[in-house]
Amino acid sequence: MSSATTLLTAAAISIFALGYASAQEPALQPGEALAEWAGIYAVLSHPRCANCHVEDDRPRWSGPHYGATRVHGFNVQRGTDGSGLGNPGLRCTTCHFESNSKDLHGPPGAENWHLAPAEMVWWQKSSAQICAQIKDPTRNGGRSLEEIARHVRDDKLVGWGWEPGAGREPAPGSAEETYLALERWADAGAPCPVE
Ligand code: HEC
Ligand code: HEC
Repeated sequence: MSSATTLLTAAAISIFALGYASAQEPALQPGEALAEWAGIYAVLSHPRCANCHVEDDRPRWSGPHYGATRVHGFNVQRGTDGSGLGNPGLRCTTCHFESNSKDLHGPPGAENWHLAPAEMVWWQKSSAQICAQIKDPTRNGGRSLEEIARHVRDDKLVGWGWEPGAGREPAPGSAEETYLALERWADAGAPCPVE
């Protein structure tokens, strides 16, 4: 075979392979998309995420390191101005810095530490409830699903959930895996489970 023919054959094979690969990756079937959501829910409902996504005014502490799940110590609250930054005089950043304390039971940290807005509530919510909430722009900060996925991949507070500091169990998987799962789920029409 001449080298030109070899090259052409190689090119034809790769074009065929490309077409084949995309033809092999159709959107997920409904059951598969729901399984994808179940993995996403496992992250969102994990204490490292849900403890900051509460409906009332108090972040939660939970996991073996904390004993029982309970409200955050020191009477910490969302803040009288509703900002999530804490009450004047006891802001989150009084104790939470930009990185984790190295001490067991020391305050964890990440850039811009504060409580999620009350409408972005996940703590003690069901899979169906969180699914509906995350798709609703009036309750997700006006985001598209693509923007939600990118927020999960890139945001520093979210990233903390996988590097939560000494003694705390990280959220399942990784930010990148959760991002990819959100993309696949969105491409499949973002189905929600029925209660
Ligand atoms: C320290 C508190 C804190 C932690 C921990 C935290 N979040 Fe958030 N989260 C926030 C705040 C504050 C916002 C609002 C940001 C905005 O709208 O700009 C938010 C918004 C979001 C949003 C977009 C709005 C929505 O509800 O759809 C997503 C998605 C999200 N967080 C994912 C996560 C995931 C996943 C984890 C865990 C791996 C996590 N967060 C952990 C504070 C936190
Ligand atoms: C007086 C200091 C102080 C203030 C103010 C404070 N925290 Fe904390 N926070 C801590 C300490 C200390 C820990 C770690 C406790 C431990 O590991 O036993 C912690 C842990 C946390 C955790 C981890 C819980 C978990 O289960 O992983 C979250 C989330 C949190 N704080 C959110 C906030 C938010 C949001 C604010 C502001 C509204 C805030 N904190 C204000 C001291 C503080």
